[in-house]
Amino acid sequence: MKIAFFDSGIGGLSVLHHAMRVLPEEEFVFYADEDNVPYGVKTKEEVMGFVQQAFDFLVTCGVKAIVVACNTATSVAVREMRHRYDIPIIGMEPAAKKALDLDGEHRVLVAATPITVKGKKMQILIDRFDKDHLVDLLPLPRLVEFAEREEFESQAVHDYLAEELGRFKLEEYSALVLGCTHFNYFKDTMRSIMPANMHFVDGNEGTVRELIRQLKARDGLEHHEQTVDYYYSGRRVEDAKELARIDRYLKRLDMVYDIR
Ligand code: DGL
Repeated sequence: MKIAFFDSGIGGLSVLHHAMRVLPEEEFVFYADEDNVPYGVKTKEEVMGFVQQAFDFLVTCGVKAIVVACNTATSVAVREMRHRYDIPIIGMEPAAKKALDLDGEHRVLVAATPITVKGKKMQILIDRFDKDHLVDLLPLPRLVEFAEREEFESQAVHDYLAEELGRFKLEEYSALVLGCTHFNYFKDTMRSIMPANMHFVDGNEGTVRELIRQLKARDGLEHHEQTVDYYYSGRRVEDAKELARIDRYLKRLDMVYDIR
């Protein structure tokens, strides 16, 4: 059986990309809701509806687990989905705890979509782990649009990031938490703006580790030749031009993988 990765768009490829390295003998399905991206600026009700549709599709495909490779969808819908479906559902939330655990003295900047930043889950996370009030939140919705049109290093991207990050005294921060899976593509541009004391923290490794843990517990790991089936909003991606687009994203993820 296959493992599904779901995102509003191509951000979730960054989690799949890591899983492909760590699980070389699994078969994957990647579902990007390209008809409805971006989620982060829509209402919670709209996002809940989109996620429900994607889950219905993936569960009908007979996948053995679903990774919600989207912090926004996790924030809005993961609880509800876990009530509805009896397969492992692994969500993602901004790795603020990991960033605080790594340092604990300096400030931590959590970048995410507006829905994630304003969400109840984020508030719970902060109340629980940010006892010393070290965390600041930064919504970066335009990065999702830039990523969807493969614009990663343009002057507009640079100016947007320089302006948004420039609101903070970055020399006081130890980490930038990538709290949206679309943000991984911009690590090189962000790195050129961030001071040396600041490093990236994301939830990709932890999410895939949790996926493995849950599959192992059900004796669910398999040994096949690795494959990935790609879907845009329930339509199988077969067009060579679209497959080449996905390949360019994966190549970019290779390039930024080791940027810390
Ligand atoms: N990639 C998504 C996340 O991790 C959301 C992007 C969007 O659709 O706004 O939050």
